Amino acid sequence: MSAAMDPVTLMKQMVGYAAADRVQSNSVVGLGTGSTTAFAIEGIGKRLQSGELVNVKGVPTSFQAIVLARQFGIPLIGLDEADHIAVAIDGADEVDPQKNLIKGGGAAHTQEKIVDCLADLFIVVVDSSKIVQKLGSTFLLPVEVLPMAVVPVMRQIEKLGGKPVLRMGAKKAGPVVTDNGNLVIDVKYEAIEDPLALEKTLNNIPGVLENGIFAGVTDVVLIGEIVDGKPIVREM
Ligand code: A5P
Repeated sequence: MSAAMDPVTLMKQMVGYAAADRVQSNSVVGLGTGSTTAFAIEGIGKRLQSGELVNVKGVPTSFQAIVLARQFGIPLIGLDEADHIAVAIDGADEVDPQKNLIKGGGAAHTQEKIVDCLADLFIVVVDSSKIVQKLGSTFLLPVEVLPMAVVPVMRQIEKLGGKPVLRMGAKKAGPVVTDNGNLVIDVKYEAIEDPLALEKTLNNIPGVLENGIFAGVTDVVLIGEIVDGKPIVREM
C-alpha cells in the first residue's frame, strides 16, 4: 500500500487484492472491468509472478481487462477455450441488500454479464459508496444498443417510465462506442422496485443488446471501507 494513496483508491486496492487472494492455482478466472477490478488483476499478476499461484488463465470482459492482464502477466483465453470458469471478479456501480447490481459505468456490462454469469463463484468488489437500499438511487442504468436502433429504443424506454440519455464521450467528439461497436443509453429511474423484472423487460426491446442490471447472479460482495480512519475489507 502506498502512503500517498487517497482513501478511496486505498479501499479499492485493498478490496481488489482481497479478491485476488481467493483465486486458486490451476483455474480459469473471469477478469472484470473498472478501477477496482484493475487492482484484482494486478493482485493476481503479482501472485503469479511470485510463484504463489501457478497455471491461472484469465477470460477478459473488455479491452481494458485485456490490456491489464497483459501488463501483469496473466495468460488469456477466450470462452471457446474455457470449459469452466472457477471465479469471476468484477466491480459494480451499485449493490443492493439482495446483492443485485447495476454495472456498466465503463460501458463493458455486456461482456461482463456473459463472463460473470458463467463463473462458479462471482465475486463483486466495491468500495462502501456503492452500497444502496434500492438500485437506481444514485446511478443511471446503462443499456447497450445497436446504433441503428437508438431512437426507437429510447422512445420505448420512455414509454416504460425511464428517462434515457445517450452517453457521450469524454475527450472524444460524439457518443461512447462500446468494445462491441454499439452505443450506450443511460436511463434514470426514481428507484428500481423489481430489478429482475426490469432486467428482462429492457432486454426484450428489439435493438437492446444488454442492460446493466445483474439480478440474482452475485455470490460474494467484498466491500472496502474506512473504519476509525483505517481501510478494511468486509464481506456483505
Ligand atoms: C464496467 O462497465 C463497469 O461495470 C464496472 O465494473 C463498474 O463501473 C465499476 O467500476 P469501478 O470499480 O471503476 O467503480
